Amino acid sequence: MSSTVAVGFAVGPASTDLLREPVMQTVMQTDGNSGSSPAAAAVRVAVNGLGRIGRTFLKLALERQELDVVAVNDIGDADNLAYLMRYDSVYGRYAKPVGVDRVDGQEWLRVGDHRLVLLHQREPRMLPWRALQVDVVVEATGVFETYAAGRAHLEAGAGRVVLTAPAKDADTDDARTVLMGVNADALTAAVITTNGSCTTNSASAVMQILQDQPGVSKAFLNTVHGYTATQRLVDSPGGRGDFRRGRAAAANIVPAATGAATAVARAIPALRDRFDGLALRVPVPAGSLSAIVFLSARATTAEEINARLEAAAQTPRWRSVLGVTHDPLVSSDIIGQPYGAIVDLTLTRVIDGDLCAIYCWYDNELGFTHTLLEHVLALPKPH
Ligand SMILES: NC(=O)c1ccc[n+]([C@@H]2O[C@H](COP(=O)([O-])OP(=O)(O)OC[C@H]3O[C@@H](n4cnc5c(N)ncnc54)[C@H](O)[C@@H]3O)[C@@H](O)[C@H]2O)c1
Repeated sequence: MSSTVAVGFAVGPASTDLLREPVMQTVMQTDGNSGSSPAAAAVRVAVNGLGRIGRTFLKLALERQELDVVAVNDIGDADNLAYLMRYDSVYGRYAKPVGVDRVDGQEWLRVGDHRLVLLHQREPRMLPWRALQVDVVVEATGVFETYAAGRAHLEAGAGRVVLTAPAKDADTDDARTVLMGVNADALTAAVITTNGSCTTNSASAVMQILQDQPGVSKAFLNTVHGYTATQRLVDSPGGRGDFRRGRAAAANIVPAATGAATAVARAIPALRDRFDGLALRVPVPAGSLSAIVFLSARATTAEEINARLEAAAQTPRWRSVLGVTHDPLVSSDIIGQPYGAIVDLTLTRVIDGDLCAIYCWYDNELGFTHTLLEHVLALPKPH
């Protein structure tokens, strides 16, 4: 495999009437002046875990002058990680050359003309964040999904930590669930935050908008979700203690727990104990659809719900995380779309004035990672 392959980073076909241009195409396909000379006051970022989310975040972050990704850490082999940056079964080949440099026993990941320290440290508290003056760690291993575990990065000298999964422990004053568009103001006081999950972000915007009007009395989310690394390719023990996650991912509809609704309710307290959900993992590698059924607080119509969501998606508050579509999409159409959620307006239903159903498409990898990027960009500047 050549380390200098420079082929366009493929994205899925864009829906014709999403309200905004799919910025992913420009973000990922241009070589631009990314990363090579970050602005002087750029936030120094490290990524822990260079998996599906870590690699996608790295590619997006390298395009932003406001961010200087100085280090990545993964227990995987360096050349293997570089290879996985170059070739992607969902998004195609990456536009930039990627390679590994080894100098005096130190490995560097070279992406285009940007070089990052490449580490292989299993224990976050042992990471050299203090020496590298890391402002923000994006914790994307899938192993450290509590605030308590994430704090090890602070011990190691990082200024802040952002988790890429809902925290399994409770929010506190300095550890908060922060969802873009909903409660970004909470970023100021917290030193460790979670951006929730992809499914959290598929629901958070619409739930906040509909909570405001017509009001949501109670709701249930059912996401039809692409498979992820927590599942198994063939029937196996494991799957993190969930027997069903150990069943062949490409051959089954696999019911699974999701912390998404709980995480939404942490950011929107009015929904606490009134919103829950489940996932059905299905045999697609990415591309998911959340169905949210809710009881409205007053009589409403599908037209009202759609009008509210369509209008909200054009506002500064929501437009970077929420899209809408009138197109008859299927899940592969959503691949590469840079939104936490894209409401499929054709599927909205209201029964007898108050039993409502809405459907939100999302690229569980790239859509989520765009909200993660927004989260990191919204953090108070360290300088
Ligand atoms: N895949 C998705 O659709 C998705 C969407 C949103 C959030 N998330 C969340 O993001 C996190 C990562 O998910 P993913 O799908 O990218 O997983 P992944 O398995 O693709 O990536 C995890 C990476 O972390 C590395 N790793 C494991 N243990 C490590 C350690 N101790 N130190 C350093 N590196 C280590 C692995 O080698 C791997 O490269 C999870 O918490 C997941 O729930 C995933």
